Formats: sequence, C-alpha cells, structure tokens
Amino acid sequence: MNDAVDALKRANAEYLWHPMAHPKAMRETRPDIIARGEGCWVWDVDGHKMLDGVAGLWSSNLGHSCKPVRDAIVAQLDELPFFNTFAGTSHPRAIELSAALVALMRPDGVAAVMFGNGGSDAVEGALKIARQYHKLRGDKDRTKFIALRQGYHGVHFGGASVNGNPRFRRAYEPLLPGCLHIDSPWLYRNPYTNDEAELGRIVAGQLEREIVFQGPDTVAAFIAEPIQGAGGVIVPPATFWPLVREVCDRHGVLLIADEVVTGFGRGGAMFGTRLWGVKADLWCLAKGISSGYIPLGATAIGTKVADVFDRDATGGGQVMHGYTYSAHPVAAAAALATLKILEGDDIPGHVARVGPAFQQRLRGLVGRVPFVGDVRGRGLMSCVEMVADPATKAPLPRTSDLPARVARAAYRRGLMVRVSGGNMILSPPLVITPDELGFLCGTLEAALDEVAAS
Ligand SMILES: Cc1ncc(COP(=O)(O)O)c(C=O)c1O
Repeated sequence: MNDAVDALKRANAEYLWHPMAHPKAMRETRPDIIARGEGCWVWDVDGHKMLDGVAGLWSSNLGHSCKPVRDAIVAQLDELPFFNTFAGTSHPRAIELSAALVALMRPDGVAAVMFGNGGSDAVEGALKIARQYHKLRGDKDRTKFIALRQGYHGVHFGGASVNGNPRFRRAYEPLLPGCLHIDSPWLYRNPYTNDEAELGRIVAGQLEREIVFQGPDTVAAFIAEPIQGAGGVIVPPATFWPLVREVCDRHGVLLIADEVVTGFGRGGAMFGTRLWGVKADLWCLAKGISSGYIPLGATAIGTKVADVFDRDATGGGQVMHGYTYSAHPVAAAAALATLKILEGDDIPGHVARVGPAFQQRLRGLVGRVPFVGDVRGRGLMSCVEMVADPATKAPLPRTSDLPARVARAAYRRGLMVRVSGGNMILSPPLVITPDELGFLCGTLEAALDEVAAS
C-alpha cells in the first residue's frame, strides 16, 4: 500500500461516520475504499478489480459507465445545474420526468409523482400523503400504519417507525405512535407452515385481524416491499399480495408498495407489484430510478389518491411536504436517460431471462456448503443465508466472523458481496451478462468452499 492510500484510509477512520456502522469499529476494521467503476466492475483504491455483486447498493442497475446517463448529467450541468420546484416554479426536466414516470406507470394506475432525494424521502412522502388522503376524506382518525417484520423502509422517523427490524429502531425510540407489525410471509422461518400458498393466506389473515382489532377507521395504510430486500430477500408466496390488496380494499386501508429496491427491473418485471399482479395506491421509488448516478427518490400517487386531492375544495390538499432538491434537474436528467435505456433495451426482460439460471445455481449452495441454510431470491436479487446448523436452521451467533470471512474470501477472488448478520445479499447490476453471472457464482462457490475447508 502506498503512502497516499494509507493516508486516505487513516483519514476515513478519523473523520467519516458511516451509515449502519459504529464510528469506532471503522477505526479497527477499515472499510473497502472503491475508487473506480466500469460496467459491472469496480476497482478498490489499491487497484484490485472486482465484480460488483451489489450494484453499489441495489442501485447501479445500468453499471458504472453508462455513457448516455453520464452525458445527460453533463449536459444538464451546462444547461441548468439547479432550480427548485416549490409552488410556482418548475423546470423542463422535472416536467419531462414526471410525465415519463406517469406514462411508464399508467398501467399500474399512477396519476402523478412527487420527488425527494432517495428512498427514505420516498417513504416519508407516501406515509404523509396517506394520512392527508384520509383527512381530506373526513377520516381524520385514520393515522396508523401496519408493516411487515423484517421490512426495511429507510431511516427517517416515519420509515424507521414502520421498519420491521428493531436494530434500526432502538437507538432512536420513541418513534411514531401507531405503527404496528405483522409477521413476514417468510417460508424459511415461520412458525406456521411449509406450504407457500397457505403461508400467504395466514399472513394476509393476520393483516386483516390487526386492522379489525385496531379499528379499521384508525388505520391509514399497510406498507410493504413486494420482495423484502434488506431483511434478507424474502420472496412472498404468490398468494400474499393479491390477498393483501383485497384486505386493504375491504377496510378502506391504502396499500403502499415500497419499490425502492424492486422498482425498475430488479425482480424481472419493471415493478415488483407487477410480479404479483397487484396495483398499489402509493409507490416508493429510488435507487434504480437514476441507476444510482445521482440521488433521487419519488413517491408515485395512484388515481384513487390523486382524485381526492383533485376534488378538494377546502385547501386541505396542499402538499406541505417536499425538499429544496425535489426533482433536482441533474437527478431528473439522469433518471430520464436511465428510463430510456431501461425501456428501450428491455432491461427487466433481460433480468427475467438471466435470473432463473442465476437463482438455480445459487440454490445449489444448499447442501454443498455445510453452513448455508437457505438461498432465496428472484430476478437479480438473492440472499444466501448462513446458519449454525442447517438441520435446525439455528442462526449463526451474532459474534460469528464466518460471514465476514466469506466476504473477504470473495473479495480476494474478485467479487464484491455484502453481508448483514448471516445474510449475504447479492444484487448485481441489471445489465450483467450471463458470463459475468457465471463468474459471480463460480467465485462465490470458491469463496464458500475455501471457508468451509478452513
Ligand atoms: C425498500 C427500501 N426502502 C427504503 C430505503 C431507503 O432508501 P435510502 O437509503 O435511499 O434512503 C431502502 C434502502 O435500501 C430500501 O431498501
């Protein structure tokens, strides 16, 4: 390591607090510093080349050197680097992007969009619009939110309140009152059944019972990811979302689809809700919307919700929410270029074509590797769950260094993966080729075998 690189690593430990990390831990275990990217590949600051198995963080769907996105950003910087979109002002890219998104999501029932800077903003917008919708309709007590355990909805106080993992909540409690959680429809770990269809019915039944128990006139919305991402790529049974839609409709509860990960192709359809044949009322979008090139989030608003705002004559429909950088022109330009490629090159179709073989090969790790308990996923999102004992599904102790050892072995062999507890999450760029997916799987197998042998 040369002196400049060493200085960079020391400065990182000294000055930078990282999301989801203890500042002191970052001094003891220095992070990997990624310096360059091209296509599906990245290089660390020491010049070591790796396949990006995580797409930055579920984001770099078009890879790291997509020229049309880069060119759109540069052109926008020359034309208009920034202007706001608060009431009374707009700019061409904001308008073009909202029109493009509504056109793309028209089949889903989307009428309009509002923008923020990322996924947490998109969730915050959806939760607030859900409450405002009910207030406008005179249902002023409908303020509660129901969500799934293992769900991840970002880090703002609203999102943290509906997050289904106490690790994101404990340090910041008390959170928003009236946020309730039901079980995740998680086939590998549930106390009810091994039958997928039945599990979908059981958890949708829980949702209905919780709504009835709380009093339907107090519940604003149910929020969930079409496939739970950060919680461990939990793919729900096919019965689940259609039943959830029915339950929400029966009780006047809005359905919020957090598509921050599943939106724009990751599951093999343009949107995760399309995988389940369901239309939500509000959608949270981010990450893949701009392929990670510039931060951007959006809340898409379904016609049922938009109509109530349109009909409002009281003024109560004024949206007192939004950010300085809502629909930032450079981000909007990046998103417009991204959408054009996603649609023009049918990237979701590519994912649908390469995804099944990828998932099947990864599933071969169960049985082959003594500490792999489960492999699950869809399209180009997958989780390899490492356990203490596959026979009993006993989780790894929290102190286990096994996941970190696997990640290091993969890194050395040229594959960047991400581990969270016993879960190894794989979410490569969506433009990845079959050969590159072969490299990913082969490298991962070798890394797991190496650790198993040690
Ligand atoms: C489903 C989901 N919602 C919301 C978020 C929050 O997004 P951000 O980190 O951009 O705020 C994430 C981030 O991973 C996510 O996976």
